[in-house]
Amino acid sequence: MRWRVEDIDFSGIDVQRATASEDLMLLLCAASFVESGSDLYSHTLVDFFDGDEELCAWLRNDWEAEELQHGRSLKAYVGVVWPDFDWNASFDGFFHEYSKTCSREQLEKTRARELVARCVIETGTSSLYSAIGQCSKEPVLVKLASCIHADEVHHYKVFYQYFKKYNQTERLGRYDVLRTLLRRSLEIRNEDEEIAMRHVMAARYPERAGDSEISARQIGRVSEMVMRNLPVDMSVKMMIKPLGLPAGVQRGVLSAASWAARPLSRFLFSR
Ligand SMILES: [Fe+2]
Ligand SMILES: [Fe+2]
Repeated sequence: MRWRVEDIDFSGIDVQRATASEDLMLLLCAASFVESGSDLYSHTLVDFFDGDEELCAWLRNDWEAEELQHGRSLKAYVGVVWPDFDWNASFDGFFHEYSKTCSREQLEKTRARELVARCVIETGTSSLYSAIGQCSKEPVLVKLASCIHADEVHHYKVFYQYFKKYNQTERLGRYDVLRTLLRRSLEIRNEDEEIAMRHVMAARYPERAGDSEISARQIGRVSEMVMRNLPVDMSVKMMIKPLGLPAGVQRGVLSAASWAARPLSRFLFSR
């Protein structure tokens, strides 16, 4: 492991600064749930890649351990800032619902395609923690987000290497890869986070039960905060890498994405 939860000084958290952004705390708590459920995905993936001892060993010994550590460290952070929040009870409710979504049927049909999907997911998580680090003013969280971000980028790199290995035999064309990239980006568009957020909000604001409008507005604010702080260049570069585009085309895509990011987020959140 590149870092350990013990390396983080949770006693040094500036609670006043942390509590100043309720939206960010909701997001962290939701992320702590998803990360803490990673062992479910790890088992499904190990089963899917059965026979590839090297990849299965990495999934079991490195990937799962690191994702669970993300969950533990975020849980510890939430525990200091929200001491009255019953994390375990709320997580149990989340896990009950979430576990139904982690079946083998959710995976792609072939190994190379699934590895493209893994690249999409790790792009999403590394971008998320980069955005969290950007919008937080609380030093312990900035450090923690940076540690987790580095892990997620590493996960991306490992999955990308295995994608290249499997694609030597599967030989997916750019169109196939693009279809998988787009489908996975749209389909799983934070379904996990959405389930987690619902459970966090139900526990945090029991008095609001049934008022879906106010919850939807708050979720919209959280998404807007993330979008405003996304590292657009990094995210797009990671996302399109499996396409293996020529350097000139890649530069064109990157500048178009940087140009479109701001008006796009304004459009998405102005309604
Ligand atoms: Fe993670
Ligand atoms: Fe990851």
